[in-house]
Amino acid sequence: LSGAVPVVISPVEAVATYPLRQRILRPHQTIEEIAFPGDADPLSAHFAAFDGDEIVGVASVVPAAPPWGPQPGWRLRGMASVPAHRRQGVGRALVDAVVAHVERNGGGTLWCNARLTAVGFYLACGWETRGDEWEEPHIGPHIAMVRTG
Ligand SMILES: CC(C)(COP(=O)(O)OP(=O)(O)OC[C@H]1O[C@@H](n2cnc3c(N)ncnc32)[C@H](O)[C@@H]1OP(=O)(O)O)[C@@H](O)C(=O)NCCC(=O)NCCS
Repeated sequence: LSGAVPVVISPVEAVATYPLRQRILRPHQTIEEIAFPGDADPLSAHFAAFDGDEIVGVASVVPAAPPWGPQPGWRLRGMASVPAHRRQGVGRALVDAVVAHVERNGGGTLWCNARLTAVGFYLACGWETRGDEWEEPHIGPHIAMVRTG
């Protein structure tokens, strides 16, 4: 939109990501159940996309080796943007912030467990699938993905 204020990506505390994490990704859980293991790790990072004062997207990254092995590893978690802001680059900008955090902290394998509905997004960001699909209870079919770019 011409004249629109661009969305700004900022590092935030983990708790700032919880409302969108819950609303978009885990509506079957309460806000108290939304923390991920590793959220509080000093090497973890949490990012929010701000449209003015409103958070319209979130992403987190925690140190974690991928299930297939290589260390050091980093797991992208809690990736979400609000429906009204999708397909406008918010998700990609959040992934870019996560990639920069990983690179500032020594690099390594960046991976995630992707919902099948989000595979196209990760492919567009330069990731690829790894291994077989599985069903995640309450959430749906998933496949591991890894950043190759
Ligand atoms: C997946 C999600 C985070 C994408 O966020 P977004 O803000 O729309 O992403 P972007 O606009 O930055 O998209 C980046 C690229 O991915 C593509 N893309 C985005 N969503 C896509 C989809 N569902 N299928 C195919 N391609 C998609 C876009 O076309 C864009 O490519 P382009 O820049 O070449 O046009 C968002 O749709 C979402 O929150 N979905 C629900 C929650 C979810 O599934 N999260 C991921 C859990 S693993």
